Amino acid sequence: MGTTGVAIVGCGNIAQRYAADLAAYSEIELLGAQDAIPGRAETLTAAHGGRAYATLDELLADPRVDIVVNLTAHKAHYEVIRRSLEAGRHVHSEKPLALRYEEAAELVALADERGLRLGSAPATFLGESQQTVLKLLREQAVGRVRLVYAEVNWGRIEVWHPEPVGFYEVGALFDVGVYPLTIATAALGPARRVTAFAATLRPDRTRLDGTPFTLSTPDYVVAGLEFDGGVQLRLTCDFYVDGHNTRQHGMEFHGDDGSLLLHGWHDFDGRIELSAFREPPQPVTPLREPYRGVEWGRAVRDLAAAIREDRPHRATGRQAAHVVEILCAARTSYEKGGTVELTSTFDPPAPMDWAV
Ligand SMILES: NC(=O)c1ccc[n+]([C@@H]2O[C@H](COP(=O)([O-])OP(=O)(O)OC[C@H]3O[C@@H](n4cnc5c(N)ncnc54)[C@H](O)[C@@H]3O)[C@@H](O)[C@H]2O)c1
Repeated sequence: MGTTGVAIVGCGNIAQRYAADLAAYSEIELLGAQDAIPGRAETLTAAHGGRAYATLDELLADPRVDIVVNLTAHKAHYEVIRRSLEAGRHVHSEKPLALRYEEAAELVALADERGLRLGSAPATFLGESQQTVLKLLREQAVGRVRLVYAEVNWGRIEVWHPEPVGFYEVGALFDVGVYPLTIATAALGPARRVTAFAATLRPDRTRLDGTPFTLSTPDYVVAGLEFDGGVQLRLTCDFYVDGHNTRQHGMEFHGDDGSLLLHGWHDFDGRIELSAFREPPQPVTPLREPYRGVEWGRAVRDLAAAIREDRPHRATGRQAAHVVEILCAARTSYEKGGTVELTSTFDPPAPMDWAV
């Protein structure tokens, strides 16, 4: 069986991590990369292999490209995905799939129409700790789950990222709220309604180079979600509190018989604890030795294998579009008040083979 040809669009911060993973998979060939800023694709391909394409059109004209991996800035996602699908390419995109639900739904429909695969981050639900938690939930290890807490205290992007403004334009909800929402929807299925509140805690920020900028999107959002069967989820997202300096992090699944705590929804080796009701928590060993941190290429590898094996891929555009609907509904709720009903749905992702 031949290799799957992959090309990266967007050669910024996270592209280094993806390229290192993709270049290491023997069944994937990293053909090259492209970026809107001259020189960036050259730097990435010099380090990880492949060629630098001058434009997206040039990349899409390369017949060896099977999958486009879209790692552009948030506001470019929709356009890059649409053009890639229209050119007949499968796509895996960084999150969020799009910034408006109508656009996300349009991309899902376009992929379906063309018989193409659309995959999306975040795919941290494919991690060892997250897959272990999903299996425990399938097995009702804490009985019927009625309440979930998801905490995203993601600190201050400007203290480490050279280009933080795009992250603040979309805000903590759209940038990082997607992580626990993707794990929660993988566990519980589609959400049904959302009610949210937001505020701006610290509007004036300073880039690494000392230049100031002012936030236009809230840096603090609290959303209440209801799932089928009445399961409630409380999501907290902010770009203010450092995750190491709070006891509020990760996800908690509370059921009739006990509680299951996932101390990090991000890293694949997040600590897990399980407790029977009113009993002390016990550590849980993941189903297999966890990857340390995040294996960014795992979802692309699964997508490539799914295409070869003619089976569904796990990190789907349809689930990502549902998560975008949740994000947009939360924004409507905190801007206009009231509860917003959701309509979209998706098939739950299959567990990894080692987590069945
Ligand atoms: N940095 C991280 O730790 C991290 C982690 C997980 C996910 N992500 C996601 O990855 C994506 C990129 O984040 P980043 O931190 O790498 O951002 P970044 O700003 O460092 O890089 C984005 C790159 O995309 C390029 N770009 C923008 N529009 C383009 C277009 N139309 N065509 C081609 N190139 C274009 C920019 O020139 C830039 O090089 C975002 O969606 C983000 O949510 C980032």
